[in-house]
Amino acid sequence: MNKLDSSLVTAALAERGFDLTDKATDADVVLINTCSVRQHAEDRVLSNLGHLRHLKKTKPDLLVAVIGCMAQRMGEHLLANEAVDLVVGPGQLHEVPELIEAAMSDRQKRLRVLDNIRRPADSETVRQLSDKLDDFELAYDTDENHLKSQAFIRVMRGCNNFCSYCIVPYVRGPEVSRPPQAIVEQAKKLAGQGIRQITLLGQTVNAYRYIEGDKTYTLADLLEQISAIDSVHWVRFITSHPGQFDPSILNLMATMPKVCPYLHIPAQSGSDRILKAMNRGYTAGYYLELIQKARRAVPDISLAGDFIVGFPGETDEDFEATVELVKQVRYKNCFVFKYSPRPGTYAERKLADDVPDEVKQQRNIRLLEIVGQIAEEENRRYLGRTVEVLVEGLSKKAHLNNAENEHHPQLIGRTAGDSIVVFNGSEQLTGQFVNVKIVKTSALTLFGRLP
Ligand code: 5AD
Ligand code: SF4
Repeated sequence: MNKLDSSLVTAALAERGFDLTDKATDADVVLINTCSVRQHAEDRVLSNLGHLRHLKKTKPDLLVAVIGCMAQRMGEHLLANEAVDLVVGPGQLHEVPELIEAAMSDRQKRLRVLDNIRRPADSETVRQLSDKLDDFELAYDTDENHLKSQAFIRVMRGCNNFCSYCIVPYVRGPEVSRPPQAIVEQAKKLAGQGIRQITLLGQTVNAYRYIEGDKTYTLADLLEQISAIDSVHWVRFITSHPGQFDPSILNLMATMPKVCPYLHIPAQSGSDRILKAMNRGYTAGYYLELIQKARRAVPDISLAGDFIVGFPGETDEDFEATVELVKQVRYKNCFVFKYSPRPGTYAERKLADDVPDEVKQQRNIRLLEIVGQIAEEENRRYLGRTVEVLVEGLSKKAHLNNAENEHHPQLIGRTAGDSIVVFNGSEQLTGQFVNVKIVKTSALTLFGRLP
């Protein structure tokens, strides 16, 4: 979501004559797009603001804007920071370019965030706002990703789940699904510009619902309609919530070659007690059954997940239940996070953050080890297989002066199941689909050769 937001703002500013620069010391404007999901992300922003405050002493004309979730959560507080000129929440993303221009001319501080973010989704204010954001998105959805033939399309905004630990519903507002026609039109436009892979985005993308007359459009409808666009080769979606997962999505994955066999479907915990305290709305048994259904429908499916360790009250036994679930599911990849209390959430207000940080750290390391072992074993099944890869460009090792890079640099790409593949080839393959034979594997990477 943040990557998309950043690229929209970048494109809108480029239209007004701004260029990107790598260094803050070269910049006239520094924009920080922020995340509030964990304290650590916010701490990094605050520390960056410290550096910028310092820089401003030698560059008094430098304009600093903080945008995104942290802006919405901490508006006034951020504005009071000496380094900050502009604070703009995710709901006012479309206003960023004008606000920057205004601030550059009068040097006044400005704050634009929503005062009542949980207004009902069908209220006039939310509808109007969402239309404005949609227009902004449609106008500026060209970004550097286009070189790589892939684009993101947001299908919905916000979240109504209120998982007890999560800040998202408070900073991104209520769930609002975009009209399917607008999404499909956008996909067609992007396809016309050379986009071959489309990733549909939503906090809980499978909750996408758009009611028109007596028809309710769902994610399955979007996948079907976007697959029907000739030049679109792959379509994928992130992130899915396990609750009320519509099995027709699995059928589409099984039957439509363009729908990628990849599911990022966070379980968060394997303990029923903790899942209940997290307000996730399902049990470990339900989740495992869903995964079984997915594997039965799509035997080659790649599964990814998120877990929080050290949630309030998590005992060794609860954690072992998580380990057990991970072992049963056999994910391709998981993100593991230490619980971080977020101001205003149920967990922060009502539950003591009682798992010591060392224990969170140990659990984090242990879970990642297990995830890594499984991923390594799972990846071995690719050995000797030829896989289709969308080439993303030069890998980090492309510039090394070694024997492998002698004729062609090392490239990086991804399979339909979102596995990372590195291989040597011409840089001109960037943005194209190629077949690569896998000759070596590790937990995170498949190593291949062009035929
Ligand atoms: N503490 C730690 N991790 C969190 N996540 C969301 N909120 C928190 C929190 N308060 C994790 C969840 C989610 C991912 C995006 O971030 O695992 O899926
Ligand atoms: Fe946060 Fe839960 Fe919504 Fe995901 S589903 S964004 S974890 S509240």
